[in-house]
Order: sequence, then structure tokens, then C-alpha cells
Amino acid sequence: MKPSQRLDRIPPYLFAELERKIAEKKAAGVDVISLGIGDPDTPTPPPVVAALRAAAERPDTHQYPSNRGRSEFRDAIATFYDRRFGVTLDPDTEILPALGAKECIFNLNLAFLDPGDLALASDPGYPVYTGGPLIAGGEPSLMPLLPERGFAPDLDAIAAGDRERAKLMFLNYPNNPTGAIAPEGLFERGVEFGRRHDVLIVHDASYTETTFDGYVAPSFLETPGAKEVGVEVFSLSKGYNMTGWRTAAIVGNAEAVSAYWRLKTNIDSGMFDAVQLAAVAALADGDRALAQMRVLYERRRDLVCGVLAEIGVDVTSPKGTIYVWAPVPEGHSSASYCELVLEESGVVISPGSAYGPNGEGFFRISLTVADDRLREALERMRSSLGG
Ligand SMILES: Cc1ncc(COP(=O)(O)O)c(C=O)c1O
Repeated sequence: MKPSQRLDRIPPYLFAELERKIAEKKAAGVDVISLGIGDPDTPTPPPVVAALRAAAERPDTHQYPSNRGRSEFRDAIATFYDRRFGVTLDPDTEILPALGAKECIFNLNLAFLDPGDLALASDPGYPVYTGGPLIAGGEPSLMPLLPERGFAPDLDAIAAGDRERAKLMFLNYPNNPTGAIAPEGLFERGVEFGRRHDVLIVHDASYTETTFDGYVAPSFLETPGAKEVGVEVFSLSKGYNMTGWRTAAIVGNAEAVSAYWRLKTNIDSGMFDAVQLAAVAALADGDRALAQMRVLYERRRDLVCGVLAEIGVDVTSPKGTIYVWAPVPEGHSSASYCELVLEESGVVISPGSAYGPNGEGFFRISLTVADDRLREALERMRSSLGG
């Protein structure tokens, strides 16, 4: 049996060594606490679960859904975008359901890249921005996100050849893994870049609803001209504790939305109608559940940043996402520090290098564990690494 060459193009799994060490620790009886993965630990809001239950009781939700999505779902997204961002969307041509932002981002690569084409991807960044282009037969071209630039890519630094070959650019603010918020003027520069070089700008809006200190994250589509050159992928996964539900939407440029739809009719059969109706309930709930989650993560962020500062880590408190991103102490690589923390404290943190070469020298802590476990993890880190 020989899998396709396409699979050989995917880089080796960077967490493999860490996972082996975690398994070893667990086998030795260590109570390992994982601050690695970003998956909300609190349940989906009860009104959303109730809406799913009610919708699942309706036999008219049981058949193949349409890839276009129910009008209730598209209308709910349009109403949310209008209320939340002041962005007007046409539910018939500018909105489609997606089975999570991950699926959508991956499939946009298939829809837009031919061999030789490039996707401009943040480094460090969500791994699908680089794995997606490779599997689709194109190539990722890395845009460094550096702390001194507020983790914004320098679009002027993109090589002339890469500008011409690029068909896609992935942006993501609030940003995983850096926790950075959209730097002033970046979206405007993105629109200008997309126009000039005929590049589809894809803004991954997975964390717009998870922000702190009163910061309100914008939609890329608020930027004048954004809809001419771009789409946004809005996910309910993180803000509404719905990672398992696979619920997102692609919104914006009608031509791009239509290309995605053409591709998707050949790949999957849409989002379960009952899940779409539950998503309508989530979006209609207003800001209540979102606000509760913001309070929870802000508290955990303060806890993490406080202890890290005490043990001598030069941490910047993020204004969004569910992550804290911080430099490893002098003399360490990302991998060696994460291994040390696991060894000394039984705590799993993510090596920044897993998110791209410019993630080297950093580590990421996820805020998605219960407060008492998080507190314990931090206490262990303080007592074993604090000196
Ligand atoms: C930046 C970013 N985009 C997309 C995703 C995946 O979102 P979804 O659950 O909607 O597929 C994640 C999940 O961690 C993420 O961090």
C-alpha cells in the first residue's frame, strides 16, 4: 500500500517527541497537567444544547443538508455581523456554513491553489496555513510575525516573485499563537496588497469574541474595500465553547464564497441542519455567553501572567485569544524549555517552534483548563522553576 506523495509533503509532526515524553510520564504515575491544547473546558451554553435537542427531534432536520446552508443560519450570521461589526452581508451570496474554520481554511487552498501557486502564511501561525497549501499542491510562503512589529507581517518585505505567485494570504487576529491583536493599519495594507497583486485575503476570525480589558476586536470586513478582495472565516468554536460541533461560516467576497461552494459540493454534504439551528440560537443569545467566557479567560490570563512574571519570564499580557505566548528563558530552545517544564513540573506547555520557525524561542500556554488545575500547574512551575 502506498499513500499519495501529497502526504509526504506534510512536515513531521512536531509534537511527536513531546507526546512520547508525556506518555512516559503518565506511565510512571505522574499527574500530568496539559496546558497544551486550546480547547474550551467549559460546556456549550445550555440554550444552545437545548436548541440542538429540539432541532434534532424534528424529522425535517434528518436528511442531507444543503451545502448552501439553511436560510435561518445564513440570516443569523448576517444579523450577527450587522450587530457586532456593522458589516452588511447578503445571506444569499456572501455567507456559507463551514464545518469549522479548519475545514474552511484547508479547502480554500484546494479551491484557489494550482501547482506553483503560493499561500502567504503567518509564521508562527495556525498549522493549517502551511499544511493546507502543501496538501493542495501549492506552497506556503512564510510571513514572519515578530514581537517588535506587534506580530504583524511586513507586507512590504514579501519578495517580488512571491507577490506574483501568491493567490492567498492568511491573516488571523486576535492571533494564535501570539495572542496579538490586529495592529493599526494592517487590514488596510492587506486590502491594498490583495488589490494590487490579485491575492485573496483570508482573515481567520476564530478569536474575535474572546478579548480582554475592554478591547473589542474588529472584523476584517469592516475595512473599506475588504469585501472586494477578501473573505473572513468566523468560527463559533472558541467563543461559544463549540469546538466539537464543527460550526463556522465563510463570509465576504461572493466570488470566493461561490468557489468554495463549488468545491464543497464535491467533498461533503454540509452541516447537520440541527447544528445549524443550534448555531442560530447561539448567535441570537447576544453577548451573554461570550461575556462570561471573556471574564473566565481574563481571570486565568491574569493568573498565568502573574506567576510567569514572578518566575522571571518576560511575558506580555495578551488582549485576546485563549493563549499566553512568552519567550523561553536565556539558554533554552522552545523544545528544551518545554521538556524541562514537563520533567520538573509534570506540566505540558507548547513549544513555539511547533507553529513555525519564528516561534522558536517562545512557548504557549493555553487557558482552557479549570482554574484549580491551572493554579496547581502554575504552583508546580513556580516551585520547580522559580529559583
Ligand atoms: C487560528 C485558528 N484557526 C482555526 C482554528 C480551528 O477552528 P475550528 O474549530 O472552527 O475548526 C483554530 C483552533 O485552534 C485556530 O487557533
